[in-house]
Amino acid sequence: MALHNLALCLVIVSCFLVVICEGQSSVPVAPGLSYTFYSTSCPNLESIVRIHLLQVLENDTTQAAGLLRLHFHDCFVQGCDASVLLDGSTSGPSEQNAPPNLTLRQAAFKIINDIQTLIQGQCGQVVSCADVTALAARESVLLSGGPYYNIPLGRRDSPNFATTNVTLANLPPPTFNTSQLINLFSSKNLTTTDLVALSGGHTIGIGHCTSFTNRLYPTQDSNMDKTLANNLKLTCPASNTTNTTNLDLRTPNIFDNKYFVDLMNRQGLFTSDQDLYTDSRTKSIVQTFAVNQTLFFQNFIDGMIKMGQLGVLTGSQGQIRANCSATNANTMAFWSVFREQQQQGTSAQY
Ligand code: HEM
Ligand SMILES: *[C@@H]1O[C@H](CO)[C@@H](O)[C@H](O)[C@H]1NC(C)=O
Ligand SMILES: *[C@@H]1O[C@H](CO)[C@@H](O)[C@H](O)[C@H]1NC(C)=O
Ligand SMILES: *[C@@H]1O[C@H](CO)[C@@H](O)[C@H](O)[C@H]1NC(C)=O
Ligand SMILES: *[C@@H]1O[C@H](CO)[C@@H](O)[C@H](O)[C@H]1NC(C)=O
Ligand SMILES: *[C@@H]1O[C@H](CO)[C@@H](O)[C@H](O)[C@H]1NC(C)=O
Ligand SMILES: *[C@@H]1O[C@H](CO)[C@@H](O)[C@H](O)[C@H]1NC(C)=O
Ligand SMILES: *[C@@H]1O[C@H](CO)[C@@H](O)[C@H](O)[C@H]1NC(C)=O
Ligand SMILES: *[C@@H]1O[C@H](CO)[C@@H](O)[C@H](O)[C@H]1NC(C)=O
Ligand SMILES: *[C@@H]1O[C@H](CO)[C@@H](O)[C@H](O)[C@H]1NC(C)=O
Repeated sequence: MALHNLALCLVIVSCFLVVICEGQSSVPVAPGLSYTFYSTSCPNLESIVRIHLLQVLENDTTQAAGLLRLHFHDCFVQGCDASVLLDGSTSGPSEQNAPPNLTLRQAAFKIINDIQTLIQGQCGQVVSCADVTALAARESVLLSGGPYYNIPLGRRDSPNFATTNVTLANLPPPTFNTSQLINLFSSKNLTTTDLVALSGGHTIGIGHCTSFTNRLYPTQDSNMDKTLANNLKLTCPASNTTNTTNLDLRTPNIFDNKYFVDLMNRQGLFTSDQDLYTDSRTKSIVQTFAVNQTLFFQNFIDGMIKMGQLGVLTGSQGQIRANCSATNANTMAFWSVFREQQQQGTSAQY
């Protein structure tokens, strides 16, 4: 039965591809990356990722949002190098209380590790964790109803993670206004249109109260729809409540252009969302995406391909991690110490 569903899904997805895959983005490919990078070393790569995520998302569609956000955080901090996945990384799994405080979903890290294990079983240690993260984000968009797009591959994994300061300086807080967002994005060579299109990633997923109660207390943001504000006050009776709400109130788990319709109705959740419809530089872009989903999808794809190539390690730089949560150096250091101790007979107790 489950297998039957899966087969059905695959059929549906392949139909999607025929209809939507209208060729490649015109965004330039970074030196060292290519659209065919694993076509001989791991020909089934994309279907391994897709089939696993079909199973994951069939059980819990909301995991798509966690995977999309993971790729964004990876790329904005120190480049798309899987640094975000390392245990001990400021926004990674072992430092949930480090800033940015409301971090990534634990489940997203496990999903990436599970996919890497499946890939290694079929192809060996050839695919980087940074590429797995990029592919998981791409599949999450597709399987949530968004567009299919090819992505350049060949990223390599960083041997180190970013410091707290670097992480804080590169990730925009939800309180940013459009000027601050434009500045941060332009420091990464992303345009104002890229900013608006990529913010459309908030068409899926959730936010915690602490990410938006600045708009409720002590004074209510006059730029927020009154009904939404009243509902949010019930969800978040105090600024520190550990509750969550959907980012896109119209279609919370579907990747579509309704986020922009929300903004036009003053129903954006964060300051960083709603201000895109206030600022004259971005307002008309929001409007065109709200009325033309095809246009949004095209710009989102271009933005994702640019973002997905930020600061990539290629060629012989970095490494291909065996375990996405740990650098190979650490893993090897662990094993060599372990072997040494074994040889010396000091680790006899199991
Ligand atoms: C423009 C600047 C951005 C800001 C200020 C921002 C801020 C945030 C914040 C505060 C949250 C909620 C965290 C929480 O309370 O749990 C969030 C969630 C999310 N963000 Fe962004 N973000 C931005 C851009 C992006 C981009 C470029 C993407 C991807 C293309 C993205 C994808 C997501 C997704 C999918 C979620 C939901 C995550 C989940 O449900 O686990 N965001 N973002
Ligand atoms: C399915 O999703 C639920 C949450 O919705 C989670 O608790 C459970 O662990 C998931 N099961 C699998 C097999 O991933
Ligand atoms: C996040 O953590 C930092 C440092 O621990 C703290 O200063 C800040 O107030 C926290 N922010 C939120 C929203 O909890
Ligand atoms: C990190 O940033 C804080 C505040 O801006 C600064 O005081 C501190 O020296 C920085 N630390 C490092 C290691 O750069
Ligand atoms: C955006 O925020 C910055 C920093 O708080 C502030 O200086 C600036 O005036 C704001 N810009 C607008 C247009 O509100
Ligand atoms: C932005 O583009 C310039 C010029 O091509 C390049 O030198 C710089 O490294 C790029 N910045 C980022 C963050 O990719
Ligand atoms: C969380 O939000 C729901 C409504 O979305 C509300 O019924 C509940 O009381 C809230 N929980 C807390 C602890 O505030
Ligand atoms: C929220 O703040 C109140 C008052 O400052 C405090 O009593 C309560 O324990 C806090 N709750 C959480 C979940 O941090
Ligand atoms: C929507 O955008 C697409 C892609 O740019 C364009 O081809 C199409 O003409 C637009 N549709 C309308 C109704 O403007
Ligand atoms: C991967 O690395 C993490 C962090 O060092 C470790 O906790 C975990 O057990 C490792 N997983 C495997 C399968 O070795």
